Amino acid sequence: MYLAISIFDFIVSLVLFPVWLLAALTVRRLGTRPDTRRLRRGARIAVVLTVLGLLLAAGRLLTFSWMAGINWELVGDRRVVTTLLLLLPGVLATLVLSLPKVWSAARRSGPEEPRALAAPRVTVPPQLAAFGALGGFFEKFLPPDRPVALNYPVYGLILVAGASWLILRGRRRAERIAGGTTAPRGTRGRRIAVRLGTTVVVLGVVGTLLTLESQRSRFPDTFSMMKGTMDYGGGTVFAAEGHDGHGAHAGHQGSATGTNANTHALGVHGSGHPAGHSAGTPAAAPVSVDALKGPKTGTPDRRFTLTAQEAKVRLSSGRTVDAWTFNGQIPGPELRMKQGELVEITLVNKLKDTPVSTHWHGLDVPNGEDGVAGVTQDAVQPGGTYTYRFRVKERGTFWYHSHQSSSEQVHRGLFGPMVIDPVEQPRPVDQDVTVQAHTWDTSQGSATALGTSDTLEHRTARPGQKLRLRLINSDVLTRTFTLTGVPYTVTSIDGMDINQPGELTDRRLVVAGAGRLDVEFTMPDTPVRLAYEDSPKAGIAFSADGKGTVEPRFDGDEFDKTTYGKPGSQPFGPRSTYDRTFNLVLDEWLGFYDGTFALRQTINGRVFPDAPMLMVKEGELIRVRFLNRGQEDHPMHLHGHHVLVLSKNGKPLTGSPIWQDTVLVRPGEAWEVAFKADNPGIWMDHCHNFTHAQLGMVMHLAYENVTTPYTVGGKSGNRPD
Ligand code: C2O
Ligand code: CU
Repeated sequence: MYLAISIFDFIVSLVLFPVWLLAALTVRRLGTRPDTRRLRRGARIAVVLTVLGLLLAAGRLLTFSWMAGINWELVGDRRVVTTLLLLLPGVLATLVLSLPKVWSAARRSGPEEPRALAAPRVTVPPQLAAFGALGGFFEKFLPPDRPVALNYPVYGLILVAGASWLILRGRRRAERIAGGTTAPRGTRGRRIAVRLGTTVVVLGVVGTLLTLESQRSRFPDTFSMMKGTMDYGGGTVFAAEGHDGHGAHAGHQGSATGTNANTHALGVHGSGHPAGHSAGTPAAAPVSVDALKGPKTGTPDRRFTLTAQEAKVRLSSGRTVDAWTFNGQIPGPELRMKQGELVEITLVNKLKDTPVSTHWHGLDVPNGEDGVAGVTQDAVQPGGTYTYRFRVKERGTFWYHSHQSSSEQVHRGLFGPMVIDPVEQPRPVDQDVTVQAHTWDTSQGSATALGTSDTLEHRTARPGQKLRLRLINSDVLTRTFTLTGVPYTVTSIDGMDINQPGELTDRRLVVAGAGRLDVEFTMPDTPVRLAYEDSPKAGIAFSADGKGTVEPRFDGDEFDKTTYGKPGSQPFGPRSTYDRTFNLVLDEWLGFYDGTFALRQTINGRVFPDAPMLMVKEGELIRVRFLNRGQEDHPMHLHGHHVLVLSKNGKPLTGSPIWQDTVLVRPGEAWEVAFKADNPGIWMDHCHNFTHAQLGMVMHLAYENVTTPYTVGGKSGNRPD
């Protein structure tokens, strides 16, 4: 519902201005209509346009109140200004002053009508409405870090000045018409020349402004990932040591909502260095991400080699994929290990011209092993190798993928599952099935496959057998699985166990891009079907004879993690005291990004590389609030930490504690999560829809004293998204 309303609001805000402009021009011309017939026809058109404008404005007002009713922050300063303050005065004046006159002119006009229609009280209100609608038009273009910095009085002043100017102009014109001196100055040819000249000048100015804006949005050739806008989450501002502080301007963000009052209070430090008042705690000694590595010595318990190479792979339907693979297969090989083991993984790059890296999604490894090109390492060039070593703390279902040009590389196949068995399996199963769902570009269009099956796959399962399905969504979009024909339990989310999960039937199992869900069931006598909403004909049918199947169902309720399972012990919760609270508003704005016109995906009105840098100190307890004011799902993934979900739309969770590495924030939703800052480093925190990441939705979590020698762009060619 929020989605539909918000898209409606978006479109209306864009068409409102042209509609009101047309209405205003039509009304204005009524005063100089030469005869009654044309006057009446013009008046009818004016009525239609004006009523359309009024309806659209009423629509904006409705969406405004509806959104404000859900959550005031969804409306924010921006809509207050552009809808209420700028738009409403002109619209109301049109309704009360202008429309009645035009209306009666449309029905029966006498010879004296044209002069009455030239009066400013008739002509000016629609002009004022058009002027106000222009605000809504710009609202979709200008991120709040600039013009919204103007506050209510300033906008009020702009409106009053605009109105006075329009009224004065309208009066003079009305006087001229009344005095019969409406004859335009100059000859026809001259008038045309003047109009042409004006158009050229206006186009020239607009063109220049657009070119400048496009240039301004370009990335510098090389930059540090620490270029971001420092956000201290309402806590202590750190001393400058340990930071290169590139253009840092603390206290500048949060203007999208005005909710970050704490941050605002910190002020702007012109020097580019936060003027630390470290409140007694001395800054920790600076450390480079290169020093934050896994164990350097010790024989690894497991060794793996991942070779990035091209391969042509066949899906079950016969369609082929020209893939970028690890070890020649899609998905890449399943890396299987035990909790607590020391693993050593060597990445070998045999691709042509394509540098790669590998990131262990959801594993809280030491920062230096995180595999993010430009943050924790340089991308591995063709012909090169790179070795990762770490001890696995987690257990459960994870995955790995390249973190260099991720939007392209993951899409084309540089990923695979990672399964970590507990030291002792609490619930042993007879069949442990990893299901990696991905959408491929094939020889015959796009195909969604589970593993390499884009058709129905049959498997044998004896009645009474216990099965575990590890569902992994490596697509950028949210996907829905269903399991038909058997009751089941969701035993873990993002690899983290659910406390006392209850039995479910026919739920829509929604999995965020990059998210995972483990499902367990006991095989009945009848067939069971795992299905995937985006490709309902594919999926896996389990049956005793390996032939049976059942129609998949997609009509159940959505699985709700906020009420699932039983409360259990958790180290912190909604009522804990947090050292820092970061408010992050996710939204979208039209405009230039790195030189191209695009729908930018913003965090507090900013885009990478200027998005917020969440600054923390080791040991602190951190709360993060996400609010999605836009129109798309954002699976927000914080590297190096698991976050505990505290609440959804202000309501605390009532079931099992839910720990995630990727939190899905859907349009209109507000989620609150918390984590302990216990893994020093510089960690990417981004939308796992890599398309959004590429349009700006990338920020970092940075520990006060950690620095990185790596950069993005330039000779390194590093580009994490
Ligand atoms: Cu799955 Cu930044 O990664
Ligand atoms: Cu997103």
